[in-house]
Amino acid sequence: MITMKAVRIHDFGGPEVLSLDAVPLPQPHDDEVTLKVYAASVNPVDYKVREGSSGADLPVTLGRDVSGVVELCGTRAHTLKGDPLYAMLGNDRGGNAEYVVVKATEAAAKPQRLSHAEAAAVPLAGLTAWQGLFDHGGLKSGQRVLIHGGAGGVGHLAVQFAKAAGAFVATTVSAQDFDFVRGLGADQAIDYKNQRFEEVVEDVDLVFDLVAGETQDRSWDVLKPGGTLVSTLSEPSAEKARLRRARGVSYLTTPNAAQLAEISRLIDAGKVRPFVQAVYPLEEVARAEEQLEKQHTRGKIVLQVAA
Ligand SMILES: NC(=O)c1ccc[n+]([C@@H]2O[C@H](COP(=O)([O-])OP(=O)(O)OC[C@H]3O[C@@H](n4cnc5c(N)ncnc54)[C@H](OP(=O)(O)O)[C@@H]3O)[C@@H](O)[C@H]2O)c1
Repeated sequence: MITMKAVRIHDFGGPEVLSLDAVPLPQPHDDEVTLKVYAASVNPVDYKVREGSSGADLPVTLGRDVSGVVELCGTRAHTLKGDPLYAMLGNDRGGNAEYVVVKATEAAAKPQRLSHAEAAAVPLAGLTAWQGLFDHGGLKSGQRVLIHGGAGGVGHLAVQFAKAAGAFVATTVSAQDFDFVRGLGADQAIDYKNQRFEEVVEDVDLVFDLVAGETQDRSWDVLKPGGTLVSTLSEPSAEKARLRRARGVSYLTTPNAAQLAEISRLIDAGKVRPFVQAVYPLEEVARAEEQLEKQHTRGKIVLQVAA
């Protein structure tokens, strides 16, 4: 049996439960391919699954983002052999591995301008930003959006997508990230630790909430009547939405090959670029997850799987 290395957990817990295991090389069916993974990225969902929030069946391989090259093809995908692809995986597989099966509905051509490490930073965070802003938030050119957490993995791509779509972008960040988000195109940066955003922002069409809690509660005050509050974390209060004559939505991001292809076009047109704060080898996945969970991160943290 041919085996490969994969990062799995056999118990829920801290970074110490991460285990680099030898597992069988996965085989593709029909329109699936097996990707040789060059890079993967870490997302909050990885440490949340590891800590047991999803109650996943164990053992489980972590990681939802990959960039790599097609190595094996299913019977209906033979034309893809050797293609560089990037993908957000469904939660039935993990990308913190040397190889992974990817479905046609999950992958798009890797942006040509990006290295595999940069490309792996994009799928889950990019699709979360895209679906939150446009599918659920209905953001249009000329509208005003407030993005909470604009310097993080999702936020730094959301700022750029919203600008590329012609919106006015305000965003809450730590003071040390002011120059970073202004460089991404944000029109207004607000230091969330020292300033109440509702005192300096008003009349927004959309609040994109990547923080939840009291940040979400205070956000109703800045919405226009008829505006929308979209959260990646918690269901907005129906009562507060009604009082404000607004709409509240929460959602789970889903893989989407067509949206990923659209994101590739924006990247290759030079309108959007992911920021990678740190790259660790696959073996140091525990350090990568700890940094994301416990320390201030800007943009994304990536795992280099192959050179
Ligand atoms: N529903 C879904 O399907 C879905 C998909 C993707 C992500 N998510 C969730 O969305 C959240 C964001 O994801 P991410 O990948 O962007 O995480 P991340 O990379 O860890 O970024 C989080 C950002 O939030 C900032 N932040 C923390 N407290 C804040 C506050 N009170 N006001 C403004 N900013 C604040 C942090 O800045 P500092 O470091 O300066 O504090 C950091 O830049 C996570 O909780 C994640 O689990 C959900």
